[in-house]
Amino acid sequence: MGMEIKHFQITLLLSCCLAAAAAAGIGSSSVADAIADVARSLARPPSTWTAGGGDACSFKGVTCSPSGRVTAIDLAGQGLAGTLPSSLSSLTALESLQLQGNALSGAVPPLRAPSLTRLSLEGNAFTSLPEDFLRATPALRSLSMDGLPLPPWPFPDAIFSCPALHNFSASNASIAGRFPAAGVVANLTSIRTLRLSHNNLTGVIPMSLGRMASLTDISLSYSHLQGPVPAFSPAVAADVVAGNGFCLDAPGPCDAQVSALLQVAEGFGYPLNLSRSWTGNDACSGWLGVICDASEVTILGLTNYNLSGTISPAIANLTGLKKLDLAGNRLTGEIPDALAALPSLSLVDVRNNRLTGKLPKFRASVDVSAEVNSPSLGSHHGSGQGSLDDGSSQSSDSAADASSKLSA
Ligand SMILES: *[C@@H]1O[C@H](CO)[C@@H](O)[C@H](O)[C@H]1NC(C)=O
Ligand SMILES: *[C@@H]1O[C@H](CO)[C@@H](O)[C@H](O)[C@H]1NC(C)=O
Ligand SMILES: *[C@@H]1O[C@H](CO)[C@@H](O)[C@H](O)[C@H]1NC(C)=O
Ligand SMILES: *[C@@H]1O[C@H](CO)[C@@H](O)[C@H](O)[C@H]1NC(C)=O
Ligand SMILES: *[C@@H]1O[C@H](CO)[C@@H](O)[C@H](O)[C@H]1NC(C)=O
Ligand SMILES: *[C@@H]1O[C@H](CO)[C@@H](O)[C@H](O)[C@H]1NC(C)=O
Ligand SMILES: *[C@@H]1O[C@H](CO)[C@@H](O)[C@H](O)[C@H]1NC(C)=O
Repeated sequence: MGMEIKHFQITLLLSCCLAAAAAAGIGSSSVADAIADVARSLARPPSTWTAGGGDACSFKGVTCSPSGRVTAIDLAGQGLAGTLPSSLSSLTALESLQLQGNALSGAVPPLRAPSLTRLSLEGNAFTSLPEDFLRATPALRSLSMDGLPLPPWPFPDAIFSCPALHNFSASNASIAGRFPAAGVVANLTSIRTLRLSHNNLTGVIPMSLGRMASLTDISLSYSHLQGPVPAFSPAVAADVVAGNGFCLDAPGPCDAQVSALLQVAEGFGYPLNLSRSWTGNDACSGWLGVICDASEVTILGLTNYNLSGTISPAIANLTGLKKLDLAGNRLTGEIPDALAALPSLSLVDVRNNRLTGKLPKFRASVDVSAEVNSPSLGSHHGSGQGSLDDGSSQSSDSAADASSKLSA
């Protein structure tokens, strides 16, 4: 504790204000505690990090301000194992935390550091992120977290809490779910480097990504991205196409049926199993649930896919569609009226969903099955002779019925 006291005394000497000295004193002791906690929770702390003794500011990799507050911890590539303590959040003066290239595991503790500009976590074995991740570090400029074995997590919209973010590198970091929408991308106003390769990002990329003035380096390869490739300026280092499911390898619009089906997938939130299959520019090349006749999509059958979200009116753009089976999912919202205009439609099965509203006015020739487990779906169904279920039939049989109709 000798060094700790010395620090305190220097602070006192430098300061003519008793209150400031007291504040610095409190800072120092919590610093010592936090650093001691870190040392204790590491499996192989650096030799100077002896738990509970010495001046924390003299430890290897620790940088302090003149008042004895820890401003930087650099323990990159030190062969460290073990976990990080939650008391790390008491180091509120941290400007840089570099822990990359170790074998640290467990939770990334919450960080409450308004001046933190650099956070490097990549190449460790962390298995969870704090609930307020990115929300309490508003000055962050560089965040790298590649190669962490996290459970699947969505692209962090909380990134807007970090308006100064220049570098965001999270390749192979288990990010799953749809690529952020245009409004989200528009908010990344400072971003220069965006590296998100080797994740499970799905769906269509907003074309506005190609027009972000700040961007110099982007990699999105090896995910499950679909639809058109954005056009980047030649000045941008872009590694985007490889290992994805874009319709074409170069910028340009997709085939009309592909566009319509991708809008349908968007309604479902671009689920991974559809994104894996619905790739390229030919919807008739064996896409999951899609059956064609003479290059025209005639059947869309996604029974029991556990789909959530809504039924896109873009289905009406599949002008050759004869059968639509979306039974046994968790779909909400209404059945779009536009579907009633499909000229060749003969079967619609949407039983066992959570749909609401009224059935569109399908022609009498359309066999419509709806309602089971969708009690709020109005029974008004226009002129269709729809076999509207009264809710008494066995739900397990409904799906089988529908499948047999579809395979006809
Ligand atoms: C992804 O990270 C894991 C460790 O979490 C590593 O074993 C694997 O090799 C990495 N894959 C790629 C493609 O970098
Ligand atoms: C951001 O990434 C670029 C490489 O794209 C690198 O040169 C720069 O040092 C990084 N900045 C920070 C603050 O890490
Ligand atoms: C993508 O998701 C699958 C299934 O959930 C998982 O096995 C795989 O590791 C994930 N890949 C990446 C790169 O996160
Ligand atoms: C963009 O950021 C602002 C705050 O900076 C926020 O209010 C807005 O919701 C964000 N936009 C989106 C699409 O998330
Ligand atoms: C598709 O993926 C979802 C989860 O993303 C899963 O619940 C569902 O069972 C999968 N459907 C099929 C048919 O594999
Ligand atoms: C269906 O999806 C939800 C979330 O999307 C998931 O929690 C649930 O486990 C899935 N069910 C099945 C049977 O896959
Ligand atoms: C059908 O396609 C046209 C042209 O691609 C598009 O403008 C329109 O929005 C689509 N309709 C629906 C309901 O998505």
